Amino acid sequence: MTVTPSSVTLPIVMGGAEFAADPPAHYTWLRENSPLGQVRLDFGAFAQDVWVVSRYADCKAMLTDPRLLRSPYGPPPGVEIPEHIRLVSSTLDMKDKDEHRRLRSLVAAPFTPKRIDHLGEQVRALAERRLDALGGDSGPIDLRQDFALPVTYTVIADLVGVGEQDRVRFQQGVTALMSGFSGSREDWEAHVRDLVDVTRDLVARKRAEPADDLVTGLIEAEEAGDRLDDTELVAMVFSLVTAGYETTYNLITNAVAALLDHPDQLDLLRAAPDDEALWRSAVDEVARYLPPITGTRPATAVEDIEWHGQTVPAGASVLPLLAAANRDPEVFEEPERFDVTRSPNPHLGFGHGVHFCLGANLARMEARVALQVLFERHPGLSLAVGRDELALEPMPLWTRFR
Ligand code: HEM
Repeated sequence: MTVTPSSVTLPIVMGGAEFAADPPAHYTWLRENSPLGQVRLDFGAFAQDVWVVSRYADCKAMLTDPRLLRSPYGPPPGVEIPEHIRLVSSTLDMKDKDEHRRLRSLVAAPFTPKRIDHLGEQVRALAERRLDALGGDSGPIDLRQDFALPVTYTVIADLVGVGEQDRVRFQQGVTALMSGFSGSREDWEAHVRDLVDVTRDLVARKRAEPADDLVTGLIEAEEAGDRLDDTELVAMVFSLVTAGYETTYNLITNAVAALLDHPDQLDLLRAAPDDEALWRSAVDEVARYLPPITGTRPATAVEDIEWHGQTVPAGASVLPLLAAANRDPEVFEEPERFDVTRSPNPHLGFGHGVHFCLGANLARMEARVALQVLFERHPGLSLAVGRDELALEPMPLWTRFR
């Protein structure tokens, strides 16, 4: 007999209020009682039943299993998908094998440690400027809207090459895309169409006027012999912008929430403001304890897979629940403890295998620098709302506070 803790209601709906009220209880329940379980992902207008794996070893295994591919995931055969929707669904994490290898190697080149180090100065300056603009200790701020979002969005927009004239439009489109269908389906589609248009314009402009940015780099890579057509270029820009800032600002805001919840851990950091290794370790602990992405996109089984005494039928979707793996007691000592000095910390917050996060080092650096600047400037930072008001949003694959 299995016992369901009071906060776990079956069937589990990721995206439901019960799940959001206590994700760790659900992770524990799944790991212990249903290591290959079935949950419903609820995206508002779209819902989907998926198999989830929640143990660390299983998540790692499935992320390297050649029988589970990303590209077949999509509409059933015969269902017509409008071109703009197809485009925004053609991101790098949806590609497999040779196509994935080729695209990833084209886009990975600019993410060198040297370039990222260089960007550190820019992130510090951006963070300082944002806090200057917000004034001293004058009153409450919205940490996401007023600080984390503008800093991280500016970094990725600069890197990719989104000019000043397109930034607001671009950001509105990405926000609408990422937040799914909380409004109407028509509004969502209109935003997506606009995002596709503005991205196409961007690619056309960079062809005409090359600059020192990633879009130009990708166009030049094409001209050096490899071929990225316009459709691939547009999809690649989505891959980078969509993956590159919602995740990172949530990493920053989740870090602040975790640190304010654990004052002893924050004190350790405050006592060592220049200890880069400790701040790095703290950022990784946030990516373990409160990862912005709780699971990757579902993969599709290309054949029947026998696992934990069950059969995942060919065509079914399987999702590794990274956030559950990150609290697996088989791997992490006292997994429910937030410990900024945790070592080793082989968490899966940035994924694993061929789809391991391309921007992991950039995101780590951005979060570290933004947090260092924030706590340096505001050593007495505290929550302006009650802790209960800072509830998790009921989003299926994100950990983000309201
Ligand atoms: C995957 C970019 C920040 C978690 C990816 C991929 C890209 C990307 C392009 C797809 C890689 C592939 O399929 O080969 C970026 C950029 C970031 C960023 C540019 C910031 C500047 C983050 C953050 C997190 C995160 C902050 C969470 C802590 C992940 C995860 C995957 C991933 C879990 C694996 C997804 C999968 O297997 O489908 N990232 N990312 N990323 N990223 Fe990031």
